[in-house]
Amino acid sequence: MISNSLISRMKQARCIAVLTGSGISAESGIPTFRGKQGLWKQYRPQELASNAGFINDPELVWEWYAMRREIIGSVSCNTGHKALARMEDFVPEFWLITQNVDGLHQQAGSKNVLELHGNIMRNRCTVCGAVSPDTSSGSSKGLPTCPCGGLLRPDVVWFGESLPADSLHLAFKASKKCDVFLCIGTSAEVQPAASLPIIAKESGAWVVEINTETTAVTSHVDESFNKPAGQMLPGLVKAVWGS
Ligand code: OAD
Repeated sequence: MISNSLISRMKQARCIAVLTGSGISAESGIPTFRGKQGLWKQYRPQELASNAGFINDPELVWEWYAMRREIIGSVSCNTGHKALARMEDFVPEFWLITQNVDGLHQQAGSKNVLELHGNIMRNRCTVCGAVSPDTSSGSSKGLPTCPCGGLLRPDVVWFGESLPADSLHLAFKASKKCDVFLCIGTSAEVQPAASLPIIAKESGAWVVEINTETTAVTSHVDESFNKPAGQMLPGLVKAVWGS
């Protein structure tokens, strides 16, 4: 049930910030990180998404990323992504902060997207640092290399690595400044993204969570909707802006 007070807060908001996690893409068919389908072979994503894992077994890590690229390349954005893209048109200042690397927010038409964990459809050279759009590299073709000869890796942030400084700076700024903060489909287990809803709350924003489960931030938010994002968000946009 969407309250009148939430409708009026969102309608009057000068700035809305949204944080998304893998839950928003679950309804597109992409497994979440920590859900039941999160394991690949016997590995946890945390073991594969790390520099130590890559150095230890680059073929294995590339095989996992090739599999994930194939899934992501075969699915489409869903009603949740699309509702957030519509929301952007109604709010004077709108920031979509995502931990996802799948590019589905941009596919849905979102423009002001801050990718905190990179994008899986790009490669980066481990030697010269050059970034290139590349979705074809798979373990069956051997390890992909840069024209400079260096080994390529996916252009995503791994455990223990720093987030892109510009995006992170803007994400903190938006979280401090926004009137309403929506925390959608993330377990809020991974820092620094997990601190953004708390920063927003401490800075005076109305913080709303949309998640199918209870999370680390549920007890800190102002309102919590226990619903799939793809079901909740179109109704929320319609209730607030009639579209
Ligand atoms: P998680 O797998 O930790 O959490 C996914 C969240 O989505 C859970 O809280 C689910 O309850 C929720 N969820 C599932 N289906 C949903 C739906 N249809 N609607 C709403 N919520 C739903 O994924 P993240 O929080 O995104 O980082 O994980 C954060 C980071 O940890 C990832 O970006 C990745 C990972 O390791 C790196 O790779 C650096």
